Amino acid sequence: MQTAEPTGRFLIRKAEVSDAEELALFAARTFSETFGGENTPEDLALHLAKAYGPAQQGAELRDPAWTTLLAEEGTTLAGYAQIRTGPAPSCVTGESPIELYRFYVDSPWQGRGVAGVLMQAVKDRARRRGANSLWLGVWERNARAQAFYRKHGFVKVGRQVFVVGTDPQTDDVMLSPL
Ligand SMILES: CC(C)(COP(=O)(O)OP(=O)(O)OC[C@H]1O[C@@H](n2cnc3c(N)ncnc32)[C@H](O)[C@@H]1OP(=O)(O)O)[C@@H](O)C(=O)NCCC(=O)NCCS
Repeated sequence: MQTAEPTGRFLIRKAEVSDAEELALFAARTFSETFGGENTPEDLALHLAKAYGPAQQGAELRDPAWTTLLAEEGTTLAGYAQIRTGPAPSCVTGESPIELYRFYVDSPWQGRGVAGVLMQAVKDRARRRGANSLWLGVWERNARAQAFYRKHGFVKVGRQVFVVGTDPQTDDVMLSPL
């Protein structure tokens, strides 16, 4: 079922399998732009090869545990978010948590409101999937994202490791009630 919702200038819609190729390119580019300067080229290349590509995003889009939302302005992809059910770290307490696994807004749209619109859509979708809380991991050095998440009701509840290539990095785990 198509679930597009007009929200201001942006259309938020659930991604389809046919979006895999565009999403893979967008996701790899925005990850590189955000974190490329702070990782070695080797670790970045390893991570990109593992996490992104039409086959990988196609599998995520087919997996019923995942929901991917796209924020579009006209025909241009401005951001995306992915939530998924699965195991949560022990610091995530409360019933029925769901993970916000990826949340990216392209640089021209940062600071312009699309991230807030996308977060609202994520929370609505998570509630409709029966979740009572939303948790995420954010790199301990990603101050902008942490500030954004705090603005949207998340608090730090712990830490976890996120491996980029060969580099085990520390993420803050943040949690928001729904
Ligand atoms: C994280 C992200 C979605 C937030 O969207 P955004 O449009 O930039 O968010 P906003 O501008 O509404 O809020 C960001 C807040 O961080 C603040 N901020 C900006 N740069 C900052 C910095 N370098 N350090 C700390 N805070 C910063 C802003 O002032 C703003 O707070 P304010 O509204 O109280 O002034 C977006 O920046 C993004 O996609 N970044 C790249 C990908 C990423 O890091 N994703 C998260 C992975 S976990």
